[in-house]
Amino acid sequence: MTDKVKNSFDASYPQPVEWARELLSGAKNVFVFTGAGISAESGIPTYRGAGKGFWDGLRVADWATPQGFARNPEGVWDWYCRRRVQLGSVRPNPGHEALAQLQRRIAGSGGSFTLATQNIDGLHQTAGTENVLELHGSLLAVRCSDCSYAETVGPVALDSPACPECGSRLRPDVVWFGEMLPQDTWRAAEQAASECDLLLVVGTSAVVYPAAGLIETALAGGARSIEVNPEPNGFSGLMNVSIRGKSGEVLPQLLGYR
Ligand code: OAD
Ligand code: ZN
Repeated sequence: MTDKVKNSFDASYPQPVEWARELLSGAKNVFVFTGAGISAESGIPTYRGAGKGFWDGLRVADWATPQGFARNPEGVWDWYCRRRVQLGSVRPNPGHEALAQLQRRIAGSGGSFTLATQNIDGLHQTAGTENVLELHGSLLAVRCSDCSYAETVGPVALDSPACPECGSRLRPDVVWFGEMLPQDTWRAAEQAASECDLLLVVGTSAVVYPAAGLIETALAGGARSIEVNPEPNGFSGLMNVSIRGKSGEVLPQLLGYR
């Protein structure tokens, strides 16, 4: 199959979706890496993007750093509560659902499937994907700033940000800029990326590290690669197949679920 794998910019190349289907059908160990784009069609804005990013007009340092939280703990807590409540009214889209079906298909054929996401919205899990590696934590959980207490809370606003174990301040269980990723999750993602034979990158600008390094890990291990994104990112030139489109439309088509 090696000689057939070309970049999708090659004029003699057949439809990217056909190539991607072929790569997928030969894959045994699949590693999927997702970002905000997969949830865009569920109505959750992406962080970056031509004049429409979530961070546009917001100071990341105020809302997504430990220093911002230390300066304004109540304001940051409330801000995440509002975002969390909004998750109560969003639903997975056909892109999330197609990936959940892909997991069942790969598992059913004796292969391995790992999905690592940078998203904190829980939509992969709602769609039925199991063992999701949440690299940047979860908006639907809180944890203690001091001890190991953590709790999944669902899409609700909590007005009592005190740890029931030690009384210290609770915080959203998300990773802020300048913080370490959850180490067990990170190690599991690195291992799956290094062992995969197929990498599927969906809806990420791939600019935030260390998460984006998983793409490099998978490619260094010799994985074939497919990306689904309406726009290119810095890794697009390294992909075997680039499919330019919305994941909620492309993934069901690619995976044969529509
Ligand atoms: P970004 O907002 O940086 O990138 C979103 C990507 O999704 C872009 O490449 C878009 O082209 C693409 N996109 C938009 N609509 C899409 C659609 N319908 N289908 C598929 N793709 C689409 O989001 P991330 O790469 O996830 O971190 O950002 C990484 C991290 O930066 C986030 O986890 C967050 C953020 O700051 C933290 O908060 C720690
Ligand atoms: Zn505590």
